[in-house]
Parts: sequence; structure tokens; C-alpha cells
Amino acid sequence: MAETHPGTALVTGASSGIGATYAAHLARRGHDLILVARDRSRLDAAAARLQAETGRRVEVLPADLTAAADLDAVAARLSADEAIRLVVNAAGFGPLGPVLGGPRSLYDDMVALNVTALQRLTLAAAEAFAARGGGTIVNVGSVVALAPERFNAGYVATKAFVLALTQALASELGPRGVRLQAVLPGITRTEFFARAGADLSAIPPGMVMEADDLVAAALAGLDAGEGVTIPSLPDAGDWQAYEAARQRLGPNLSLSVPAARYAVPPVAAVA
Ligand SMILES: NC(=O)c1ccc[n+]([C@@H]2O[C@H](COP(=O)([O-])OP(=O)(O)OC[C@H]3O[C@@H](n4cnc5c(N)ncnc54)[C@H](OP(=O)(O)O)[C@@H]3O)[C@@H](O)[C@H]2O)c1
Repeated sequence: MAETHPGTALVTGASSGIGATYAAHLARRGHDLILVARDRSRLDAAAARLQAETGRRVEVLPADLTAAADLDAVAARLSADEAIRLVVNAAGFGPLGPVLGGPRSLYDDMVALNVTALQRLTLAAAEAFAARGGGTIVNVGSVVALAPERFNAGYVATKAFVLALTQALASELGPRGVRLQAVLPGITRTEFFARAGADLSAIPPGMVMEADDLVAAALAGLDAGEGVTIPSLPDAGDWQAYEAARQRLGPNLSLSVPAARYAVPPVAAVA
């Protein structure tokens, strides 16, 4: 009998942290893998280990996703490789602390990676999956999209973009068989904080999730059909209430007259 497997998964940020953990979980679920990040030696080591552990085929595709030619190459692979059925966009970084006074070039790089590259790869995958009649895109955002006053403003804005892009595309592409999930981690034990020059051990342990638990919960959320997964949120009803409140704004978000509280005189009265 022919072997059936769930197709190839392309994972960005696969050299460490959440992306590397996704790669391990997805290989155990039977996916072949394409691992994307800048550090080829770490990708090679992960590929050899996962291949030995799971027997899946694991390829590395080293790329700096802030470099146009590298981003083009990864997007082209998504468009051309019919075996790819799942994309996990996990590559990302963010500075800590107040936005003013921070290094401007770092903010540009952050937008290039967290926003520009993620959008490019999401759209390349969405287009390819819609043409192939199905596929899944997992975008790693952050809970800071829901708590903008608590983190670096530029980073928060990039993660709000990830959530909005994913929700908007899910509604457009769902009918074409393309699933999208936004995963919103809280603080997770990865290299994120060290890369930002911060000490994760200064954060109360009760606020820090292990990457393995985070990814296991996110995949359970994906299996359950969630469009947005917040792994640490105890009561899913809180998110549903938040979304319901947002939907209630809908009918009044674009009307011909300003709200009465602004006391704007009607046009005829002004003339
Ligand atoms: N850890 C947290 O507390 C937390 C919370 C909420 C959201 N997140 C989000 O989770 C995602 C994964 O972060 P993490 O926590 O796993 O951090 P991490 O351990 O630092 O992993 C970041 C990954 O992104 C890759 N990367 C960085 N710059 C890149 C570039 N220019 N081109 C290609 N790949 C690049 C890194 O690999 P190379 O250096 O090899 O390129 C690495 O594989 C990010 O989007 C982050 O914003 C993290």
C-alpha cells in the first residue's frame, strides 16, 4: 500500500526556539521538512537529528529573510514545490524597552522580518495552496498584539500586523480550502530574550512557558480548528467574548454622520 503522509512543512526560524520546536513536532507527526533560518550549521544539525529520530526527509534552506534575494528564493520554493502543504512562519525578533532611543536600523530590520517577510511568505503560500485546493499557514504572532502598552511599541505593531493579516486572510481563503492560524505566545523559554540583551531568569517562572508545551498546545489548537490560539489562556470564552465585542462594533464602524457625542452640526445647518 502506498505510504500516505501529511506533506512537506516549511518552517522559518527553524534554527532555534519556537520554530525549531515546531520542526521537531511536525517531523514526529509525519511531515517531511524544509528548515529556514540564517544559521546553516544549526539547521544542518537539526536536520540530521530529526532525520535520524523520525525517518522523515529534512532539507535545509538557509536564508536571511531580510535580504531580498533570499526572501525571493524561499517564496519561489513555496510557489513551485507541490509537496508543501504547511507553512509555519516563526522567524522573528523584537527589542525590549521603550521605542524612543532604540536603534533605528534594528527597527527597520524587525519590520523587514516580522512584517515584510512574513507577509510575502504568507501570500506566496496562500496563492499556491488556493491553486492546489488546500494547505495550512501558521503565523507566530504574540500576545503583545492584545496588550500594546506593555512592550516595545514597534514590536507590538509588527505582531498586531501578524494577527490582522492572518484573521483577514482566513476569512478570504477559508472557502478555498486554505486554513490559517495565528499563534499568540506569551513569554516562552527561547533565545528571544537573550538576543534582545535581556535575562529571562528575571521574569517570574509562572509567566514563562516551555517551547515544547507552547507548540504542543498550538498544534492541539490547530487540530481543534482554532483560527487564533493563545496557549496560556485558561478560558477560551474570554477570547470569544473579546471577538464578539469587536464584531458588535461592525455595523457602526462606517456611517455617514459623526456620533452625537462630537456635536458636529449637520451640513445643512452649517451652510
Ligand atoms: N520567546 C517569546 O517569549 C516569544 C513570545 C511571543 C512571540 N514570540 C515570537 O516567536 C517567534 C520565534 O521566536 P523565538 O522565541 O523562538 O526566538 P528565537 O529562539 O530567537 O528564534 C528566532 C528564530 O528566527 C530566526 N531568524 C532571526 N532573524 C532571521 C532572519 N533575518 N532571517 C531568517 N531567520 C531569522 C532565528 O534563526 P537564525 O539566527 O539562524 O537566522 C531563529 O531561528 C518570533 O516571531 C517571536 O516574535 C516569541
